[in-house]
Amino acid sequence: MIQAQNEELLERAQKVVPNGMYGHLSVKMQSPRTPQYYKRAKGAYLWDYDDQQYIDYLCAFGPNLFGYAHEEIDAAYIEQLREIDTATGPSARMVELAEGYAEQVTHNDWTMFCKNGTDATTMALMTARAHRGKRKILLATGAYHGATKWCTPMPEGTLPEDRAHHIYYEYNNAESLRAAVEEAGDDLAGIFATPFKHEVIFPQLLPDEEYARAARQLCDEKDALLILDDVRAGFRVDRDCSWQKLGIQPDLSSWGKTLANGHALSCLMGSDRAREAAGKIFVTGSFWFGAAAMAAGLKTLELIKSTDYIERTVMLGDRLRDGLNQVSANTGVEIDQTGPSQMPLIMINDDEGNRNMPGCVAFCDALLDHGVLFHPFHNMFITPAMSEADIDRTVEACDEVAKQFHSLTMLEFSL
Ligand SMILES: Cc1ncc(COP(=O)(O)O)c(C=O)c1O
Repeated sequence: MIQAQNEELLERAQKVVPNGMYGHLSVKMQSPRTPQYYKRAKGAYLWDYDDQQYIDYLCAFGPNLFGYAHEEIDAAYIEQLREIDTATGPSARMVELAEGYAEQVTHNDWTMFCKNGTDATTMALMTARAHRGKRKILLATGAYHGATKWCTPMPEGTLPEDRAHHIYYEYNNAESLRAAVEEAGDDLAGIFATPFKHEVIFPQLLPDEEYARAARQLCDEKDALLILDDVRAGFRVDRDCSWQKLGIQPDLSSWGKTLANGHALSCLMGSDRAREAAGKIFVTGSFWFGAAAMAAGLKTLELIKSTDYIERTVMLGDRLRDGLNQVSANTGVEIDQTGPSQMPLIMINDDEGNRNMPGCVAFCDALLDHGVLFHPFHNMFITPAMSEADIDRTVEACDEVAKQFHSLTMLEFSL
């Protein structure tokens, strides 16, 4: 595998971008051969600057819902761009999209648009505090809600005061949630929950019904707001809010990633109960109301409603899961797979069932030679743009790598 162009770009970037790259797209915790830059994306594939093609299981860490450079979605974007995009006021697309979401998402009566998931979770936090003027926010330990001072997982540059009114509970543990509510006393503003436990490295856990019900009930009792952070899972596990199947309606839900299939769009959705509070906070951004991303959002919503994309991603995800279980059985390499099959966390465990982090990095490194892009510790995403042949080729590649696993050079890993 040649990485000459990628290396040259990295070297140039070191001089003009801190560390060459930062944030969740930085590959510094992956194998040193992982491409940092890509020159082309189409459907399920990426091409690096050395012209190597990969089946991309990262899907831009979520935004690639229907396939990169989707013809219909991009056509809607471009057509809108020619008419009006960022301007002195929003276009009718904003109203149409808010109407579309009000129809599509059961708990939702109103939408406020923004650009990133962090904007949406921050607006949720502010709305919860504006609701009754209370301060305490409950969060599941380790849950990711974005990268600004109240929630970034690497707190360099932030102050303890930024989290002074956070109380943490254990995901899926109704007792722990109740204890956190008790601690908040009369000052509870809101409870944050992700649709399922999907942070890095740890096994992904589907939501426990008792926990989800307790979250709803406690918010009702305390006149606080229940916030579902659907930025990562939204429209991947359901065509509605991700707790719809549990029958739990949040007051607020934050969305991003998938909304416009890679075009920059996120939003906070809310029920009438939270409308007044949402109307009081001052939030805005120069680019939040661009019409082109909203036009892409409308086309994406149309495809969400009219295609079998979820069923297809589940089918493809199950095919991958079954194939990898077989690889594990054939080779004795313990491949641990958790979470919904269309958003799998795939990791290598050691004989004692603990995460073999150097092994995970080495496994992903070896897959690069087969044109397969996996992540060693972040959940991945399936797109309906993948074919059955892509999945089968991936399983074959994993089989070959697993057979040689014990002779691979283990790679260093530190967070
Ligand atoms: C659950 C969750 N919330 C919030 C965010 C932040 O979204 P963004 O990176 O668009 O700001 C993410 C991003 O990965 C996420 O997964």
